Amino acid sequence: MVFFENNSTLPEGPQSFLGERGIDEAVGMKNPARPIIQRSRLVLKRIEETIIQVISPDEREFRRIWPAIDSIEGMLVSPFQEYWLFERARSLPNGAIIVEIGSFKGRSTCCLAYGCRGTSKHIFAVDTFDGNEVDFHRKGFFDEFWRNIEVHGLTGYVTPIQKRSSDVAKTWKQPIHLLFIDGSHQYEDVLDDFYGFFPHVVPGSIVAVHDVVQTWPGPLRAWNDVIRHKLSNIGACSTLAYGVKPE
Ligand SMILES: C[S@@+](CC[C@H](N)C(=O)[O-])C[C@H]1O[C@@H](n2cnc3c(N)ncnc32)[C@H](O)[C@@H]1O
Repeated sequence: MVFFENNSTLPEGPQSFLGERGIDEAVGMKNPARPIIQRSRLVLKRIEETIIQVISPDEREFRRIWPAIDSIEGMLVSPFQEYWLFERARSLPNGAIIVEIGSFKGRSTCCLAYGCRGTSKHIFAVDTFDGNEVDFHRKGFFDEFWRNIEVHGLTGYVTPIQKRSSDVAKTWKQPIHLLFIDGSHQYEDVLDDFYGFFPHVVPGSIVAVHDVVQTWPGPLRAWNDVIRHKLSNIGACSTLAYGVKPE
């Protein structure tokens, strides 16, 4: 459970076009409800402070980095999938290797990279950074991607690979401890990404596929026909489906 209510959006006092004191003055008497309202606000604030104390360190850290992540354009179901990526990366052991296929401007990449901060974990961000001919027509966003990684101080954790994922898979050699597939959403391409990188996924590690949902029949069908049958401990975070490569 994540607590994302922004304190700054909470009203600070009884507001009206008359102003804070205007209501009392307008009715010409002291508002008897005012002390009760003020006390209730104080109690709610204390409760919120207590909740923040008891939530996990991951959630507390995520609350801190959320404005930075949320400043990057992307396609995740917020804030749940951002948190999922951050938390999964954070739970990996030192030295772990993450492969992300489909980074766009770096929203998901930054979630993963924030989860690697202060460690020797590393992300390989595979993307043409130029879309594709079939389902992603945005072009030329590598510079914006890299600027986003830079301004958040995450360059040490990310190596971009500006190529088609199927070409990268052909020569890939390293073990993978988290595989996140969010590149081309064509059925055959999702399967190519899976078959290309799955042999390198270390048993016990997670494979996640984004957009496993009816509005994206490619990933949905690839997941249902093939991918989920190769994994155990299946789960989902909204439209992100995941499972573990069996030992
Ligand atoms: C849905 S976006 C990724 C969104 C990103 N994960 C985020 O959180 O914002 C899909 C990305 O896959 C890339 N892509 C599409 N087809 C590709 C392919 N064949 N090889 C590599 N990248 C590809 C696109 O350039 C695009 O950046």
